[in-house]
Amino acid sequence: MTELSSSRIFSPVSIGSLELKNRIVMAPMTRSRSDDGGVPPDYAADYYAQRATAGLIVTEATNISAQARGYPRTPGIWSDAQIAAWKAIVDAVHHRDGKIFLQLWHTGRMSHPDMHEGGALPVAPSAIKPHGQIRVHDGMKDFVTPRALETEEIPLIIEDYRRAAHNAKLAGFDGVEVHSANNYLLEQFLRDSTNQRTDQYGGSLENRLRFPLEVVRAVIDVWGAERVGIRISPVTTAPGDTPLDSRTMETFGTYLDALSDLDLLYVHDIEGVTQMSRVETGGVSFATLRRRFKGAYIANNQYTLALAEATLARGDADLFSIGRPFIANPDLVGRLRAGAALAEAPKEYWYGGDATGYSDWPAMS
Ligand SMILES: Cc1cc2nc3c(=O)[nH]c(=O)nc-3n(C[C@H](O)[C@H](O)[C@H](O)COP(=O)(O)O)c2cc1C
Repeated sequence: MTELSSSRIFSPVSIGSLELKNRIVMAPMTRSRSDDGGVPPDYAADYYAQRATAGLIVTEATNISAQARGYPRTPGIWSDAQIAAWKAIVDAVHHRDGKIFLQLWHTGRMSHPDMHEGGALPVAPSAIKPHGQIRVHDGMKDFVTPRALETEEIPLIIEDYRRAAHNAKLAGFDGVEVHSANNYLLEQFLRDSTNQRTDQYGGSLENRLRFPLEVVRAVIDVWGAERVGIRISPVTTAPGDTPLDSRTMETFGTYLDALSDLDLLYVHDIEGVTQMSRVETGGVSFATLRRRFKGAYIANNQYTLALAEATLARGDADLFSIGRPFIANPDLVGRLRAGAALAEAPKEYWYGGDATGYSDWPAMS
């Protein structure tokens, strides 16, 4: 008989008013299987429900509006059809006694005219082209220089967030996670390399924090702070390999102080360069950032059970989110607990395609 781990990782835990089965979170993962209208497929309900043994699921990043889109076949939460499809997914997860948050996304400059009606330019705080290429419908293309948002457009985007948050509520989610990581729109405003505005949304750190904090406040208006989390990636350099900020620790320390004052449920920190390394650069200390935030802290990036246990024992995190291993291991929690072998998903299944390599991975025998 298999001996099950008695680690605290697998014991129930409460964060705020949310009771979770264990401390393992399924990290948000874009899988690009929605239709051209941004409606998730029926089999997405199987995919998420199969993974409902996680303490909490955070969905793939979900566009708050048509303007927010950056990549093909990513889902949205602005139309009735999208809300109905998400409701079926949420119901399937709840039926398995799981908890699920929707990740709210605006890609900003990390997009391409091919993704927009009439070939419109992506929008951003400033007209600064990202480094490298982006995936579009027919392969990879060079990024373009985005259009800098007019000051008067910014409140409209905040309203898009508010409406998306409201729609997430209609779909029955347990809460929402504001995507403020990986150099998408919110992070583009935060960082001094991508925000060179001269209005009240740029320049000083206080001004660079203004838009992200206005977004968070709008989402809190809908959900209450106890059901809103945020994702950050202070060290990540994506889309290039150079630091995005001249004073990373000051930017993120001040951001976390403000988020803490708003009583946000959790901060979900990608520790290091997303998927690549766990290094602390730019004067960043994950443990120090964690201590500046009074809500729960979800740690992410290359976590194994052993690393999660050691981090929990030090008091440096409350929950641990795991991404890639959830792709091929629907019952990841059970496998970790039993010390069972993990399956590995070939990269060709990560983005695009159908149920194959997505909702057809078997549980361990
Ligand atoms: C296929 C794939 C899609 C991803 N999509 C998202 C996403 O939609 N939103 C997000 O915040 N992070 C996304 N990420 C990053 C993961 O959430 C996570 O931060 C990363 O994979 C590191 O965690 P891991 O080492 O446990 O995989 C994605 C990662 C992968 C591999």
